[in-house]
Amino acid sequence: MEEKIIQITGLTHFYNKTKDQPVLQDIEWEIKKGEFVSIQGRSGSGKSTILHIIGGLLTPSEGYINVDGMRINGLKEKKLALFRLKSIGFVFQSYHLFQNMTALKNVEEPLFYSGVKRKYRKEIAQEMLSKVGLEDKINSPVQELSGGQQQRVSIARALINDPDIILADEPTGNLDGLTEQEIIDLFVYMNKSLNKTLIVVTHNDSVADCASVKMKLHEGKLVERKTGGGIVKEYTESNKISMEP
Ligand SMILES: Nc1ncnc2c1ncn2[C@@H]1O[C@H](COP(=O)(O)OP(=O)(O)OP(=O)(O)O)[C@@H](O)[C@H]1O
Ligand SMILES: [Mg+2]
Repeated sequence: MEEKIIQITGLTHFYNKTKDQPVLQDIEWEIKKGEFVSIQGRSGSGKSTILHIIGGLLTPSEGYINVDGMRINGLKEKKLALFRLKSIGFVFQSYHLFQNMTALKNVEEPLFYSGVKRKYRKEIAQEMLSKVGLEDKINSPVQELSGGQQQRVSIARALINDPDIILADEPTGNLDGLTEQEIIDLFVYMNKSLNKTLIVVTHNDSVADCASVKMKLHEGKLVERKTGGGIVKEYTESNKISMEP
């Protein structure tokens, strides 16, 4: 039986205090270990919100999130921070790197918080930068790197603590077509060779086409799509969703 790594039950989220407009509504969802999931949907449909909830950056208004058998909503901030450090790697559209620090220092940083000794940190970070093809840029300040190279640094940083899950929010949003393909290749490598569970929010069909499970958010509800369109499963308890192209 395939092992589930993330289980979401009865998830609803409101940003407004009056709770009249849910951003996410009645979401029921299971993600299996090793899946490559894409999430698409219009701007404002709640894609970043669901990613932040799964990554323990945001507590949902209602419902439960279990990751690797542990309920993450309701955890105290210290435990949540540890969960994020050990279990999740984040990749963002705008890289979120320290621009005046070298690629190496950026990748080493999460190891510092994990308590890895200095002499090992450098070695581990160097090896990870080589894995993403940046062995010749290790000592370059990030601000001197191209967008694609910066995204590779942020992927190396996301992988450095060997988390089971990688969450990416528009990872190719700032890149041109050729560079975009390099990042797509790295996502496939993380999934197939490193066996990471990937959840990637993307507007980009080439990225979504690499996913084994394609999800769509529509008005706060989550649906699964087959290749070529059409809904195979509904991931909400209530409210039927019309077929999307
Ligand atoms: N911190 C916040 N406070 C209040 N409302 C928010 C907050 N963050 C997001 N929202 C609202 O929640 C809705 C969903 O936002 P979210 O960022 O999840 O959308 P998205 O699908 O990621 O959009 P995009 O494709 O533009 O990144 C939007 O209407 C947005 O305005
Ligand atoms: Mg977003």
